[in-house]
Amino acid sequence: VKRVIILGSTGSIGKSAVDVILQDPGEFEVVGLAAGKNVDKMSEQLDMFPGALFCMEDKESVLAVEGRNSFYRHRVAGVGQDGMEKMIVDTSPDLVINALVGIAGLRPTLKTLSIGCQLALANKESLVTGGELISAMDKDIMGNIIPVDSEHFSISRCLRGYQGEVEEVILTASGGPFFGRDMSSLRDVTVDEVLDHPTWSMGRKVTVDSALLINKGLEVIEAHYLFDFPLDRINVVIHPQSKVHSFVRLSDGSLLAHLSPPDMRLPLMSALYYPEIHPFHWDDLSLELIQNLEFYPLHREQYPAFDLVLRAIQQGGTTPVVLNAVDELAVGAFLRRRIGFLDIILWIDEALSAHRPAKIECLDNILEADRWARDFISRNHSESVLN
Ligand SMILES: NC(=O)c1ccc[n+]([C@@H]2O[C@H](COP(=O)([O-])OP(=O)(O)OC[C@H]3O[C@@H](n4cnc5c(N)ncnc54)[C@H](OP(=O)(O)O)[C@@H]3O)[C@@H](O)[C@H]2O)c1
Repeated sequence: VKRVIILGSTGSIGKSAVDVILQDPGEFEVVGLAAGKNVDKMSEQLDMFPGALFCMEDKESVLAVEGRNSFYRHRVAGVGQDGMEKMIVDTSPDLVINALVGIAGLRPTLKTLSIGCQLALANKESLVTGGELISAMDKDIMGNIIPVDSEHFSISRCLRGYQGEVEEVILTASGGPFFGRDMSSLRDVTVDEVLDHPTWSMGRKVTVDSALLINKGLEVIEAHYLFDFPLDRINVVIHPQSKVHSFVRLSDGSLLAHLSPPDMRLPLMSALYYPEIHPFHWDDLSLELIQNLEFYPLHREQYPAFDLVLRAIQQGGTTPVVLNAVDELAVGAFLRRRIGFLDIILWIDEALSAHRPAKIECLDNILEADRWARDFISRNHSESVLN
């Protein structure tokens, strides 16, 4: 029986992980769950997994969960970042699934790796902000990361057996709901239009990031660290059908492609059963669905947000940390309908222009840059926009 913690269990990826586990309950024991403020879902999951401790983002949410059932009081692992770290150490699981959103995932990622535990990583922000730190760790520690992001899961499938012969890695991007439209025509798009992703059903932040191709930029950073591969040999192609998730070009001229249904339960299964390959219980990718696959070059100048992300990683140091923090704030403000869609790009641009990048040598450097970015945005924008 594999003992598993699900961080972000109430979110889109977290719930898919629960789905996979429930298909085969004898194989897994869920020993810990963590979420933000979703008290209803957490209470439901605590009933589903009677052996699990839990942690919520703040004390009020922990108390609200306890209010649902007095027995839950005995299952509190802690609160917030400290609580998640404590739960990881105290339960000493075989696998931590990090399905948190944002930089909230970074400390749990570092803690999981530091105790030598396997990490199924969906939280790309861990690598965007902490990639320099994590990649400087022992190679064995990096080997404990199992990619869950679909493109990275797909690359790892293609790479099996081919390390050292790889010329180029190509990530596919659906292009999002506005593929083919000029950026200037997107000024007044609504939150609902942005959230209407053509091929994937995901959490709100990653869906907004996808519509601007910020997400694809973050995935380039993620691939760079996960596979220790140079940035200039990681490329992106637009593929609106989202059936091919990546290509890997080998030095012998072969171009390997990985196809699968756009269903996150597949990479999650792969992580949960790792290293075994397990039958997929849901719809396979039928051949009818791959009759008309299209691929278009991605022109960086047409996607200013993608370009900003790539410039941030090329600059390195604390710059991607600042980009991530501002993106989190700006996407939040957009989702609350306080700013327009394209303001997300303006906010990132203004913060990156003002930031003086510093080296990252420890976690504090990252947290300090994150704080700097959040302070910068609150100094430059009114409270009514930010709350
Ligand atoms: N969804 C996808 O298909 C997909 C695909 C590839 C990669 N990813 C990546 O996977 C990660 C999760 O994405 P998602 O779409 O599943 O996000 P989501 O639906 O928004 O879920 C996020 C989860 O994190 C929890 N959370 C947020 N802030 C927290 C905090 N400060 N402390 C503790 N828990 C916190 C949320 O709790 P509440 O529910 O209580 O708010 C929720 O359980 C992201 O990094 C995303 O880029 C997602």
